[in-house]
Amino acid sequence: MPLRSEAWYGGQDRNSYIHRAWMRRGAPNDAFAGRPQVAIANTASDLTPCNSHLNEVADSVRQGVWDAGGVPLNLPVVSLGETNVRPTAMLWRNMAAMATEEMLRANPIDGVVLLGGCDKTIPSLLMAAASVDLPAVVVPGGPMLTGTFRGTPLGCGTDVWRLSEEVRAGTLSAEAFLESEASMIRSRGHCNTMGTASTMGLLAEALGTTLPGTSGTPAADSRLLARAHETGRLVVDMIAAERRPSEVLTAGSFRNAIVALAALGGSTNAVVHLLAIAGRLGVPLSLDDFDRIGADVPLLVDLQPAGRFLMEDLHRAGGLHAVLGQVVDLLDQDAITVTGRPLASHLGDAPIWDPEVIHTRGAPLRPDAGIAVLRGNLAPNGAIIKPAAASAHLLTHRGRAVVFDSVEDLHARVDDPDLDVDADSVLVLRGCGPRGYPGMPEVANLPLPRKLLRAGVRDMVRVCDGRMSGTAYGTVVLHVAPEAAAGGPLAKVRTGDRITLDVPGRSLTVDLPDAELAAREPAPAMTEALARPRRGWEQLYVNTVTGADTGADLDFLVGASGHAVARESH
Ligand code: FES
Repeated sequence: MPLRSEAWYGGQDRNSYIHRAWMRRGAPNDAFAGRPQVAIANTASDLTPCNSHLNEVADSVRQGVWDAGGVPLNLPVVSLGETNVRPTAMLWRNMAAMATEEMLRANPIDGVVLLGGCDKTIPSLLMAAASVDLPAVVVPGGPMLTGTFRGTPLGCGTDVWRLSEEVRAGTLSAEAFLESEASMIRSRGHCNTMGTASTMGLLAEALGTTLPGTSGTPAADSRLLARAHETGRLVVDMIAAERRPSEVLTAGSFRNAIVALAALGGSTNAVVHLLAIAGRLGVPLSLDDFDRIGADVPLLVDLQPAGRFLMEDLHRAGGLHAVLGQVVDLLDQDAITVTGRPLASHLGDAPIWDPEVIHTRGAPLRPDAGIAVLRGNLAPNGAIIKPAAASAHLLTHRGRAVVFDSVEDLHARVDDPDLDVDADSVLVLRGCGPRGYPGMPEVANLPLPRKLLRAGVRDMVRVCDGRMSGTAYGTVVLHVAPEAAAGGPLAKVRTGDRITLDVPGRSLTVDLPDAELAAREPAPAMTEALARPRRGWEQLYVNTVTGADTGADLDFLVGASGHAVARESH
């Protein structure tokens, strides 16, 4: 089978001359026809600080590609820095995926190495690779090393929430809070808790899309560069074998990712990302699969935000392979990786070097750790909760709704001493779904009212159609679908209604007769949010984004479109 790039470089005519001549720039004569052209889709950016080291990783990939007879090509792609991009990086995930997909298809490329790290970067790269279906392999950029403050390890994100709540509760001074800021980010790399970046890096491996044994390697660890070098060699082999995402990313590999997500206690954001990646391939994955496959998987990893340790500890303790080695019987035994061999065959003995960090199957942190999918008259299309991050006493709860129509409304009223709220109330935040915000921000772990914090309350039931940071925790019901701005019943809830959360029974309901709920009008703020004038990407996004329950992709990007070579323009 001729290489795809030969459609550009393989002829002796004027057009092939043009394609080769402009690309020579010192490349040897034999760098074109017959040699695999490998794009390095690189999300390095100074504005994505978690990925700013990826140029060095790319250099190692380049060496590996040359070693194996390929030609490496740097391809800077849209990068999303979680802490900087407004209104929320999630608004741009699909744009990054679309732009990367189009550039891979438009150029003389035979395969691609995907360099990501910060939350949305690996999902967008995998969505793109799935759609264009060229041989593709991920190098996760890796977590940062553990920073400490006053002798205590700091978890990125998680400890920001904890420390800021302590300031609000009056138990930490504002000066000490600011002092901790300089200690939080110790090295290159992404957040070091089991947040979204760590989760998606590890799940990229569980899906089979990394060189086995790579994910979770700290960004500052020189072994990451060695793995990047080997990955450069591997992608050349993958091109020869025509090993494409459609062969690697099967229903079995998504099963493996869901098992890993549960055993790791990974971020809830993985749900919406895995659904979107599966959608690009036509793999039938539904919200309920997360509950069905993951519910009985034990929680084995004691990492923040739910636990104690950080990513450097997980790597030291044996990493993903040690975790998966404990649940190997739950994995799909046939799902292959980018090596062409099944994931399960790569696990070997996979010893646990620190049982405090990685627990054995016989002594798990929790016997069941997956994502629980809730349904009911408040979430006809589903909602999710991560029981491992919730308070056990709140998993079954009935309380009076206190409703906020926007993040701004929340901030204006939540600390009002006169707000009619108590520890049993259910805080509802709506207008935060994909269409309503727009972009589905990580705001669902809404702060508790200051007067309750001061009274010692540390968790309450919260319900939202948005997402929650993977570094956050609490009894938070997320991704309520349909979202309020898209006509979901959440738009009709009023302060004072009774809401019942029943995680064991998998339900989320408002105690109203069907007829009364149907007859109510949605809150005006929900329809007003959609009517706001927009342009450009935001307009396209709001008009075409799907619900969280199907991955919040754009409806016209669902499904693979392949790597056909477009017509010549010269
Ligand atoms: Fe980039 Fe957390 S901000 S991974």
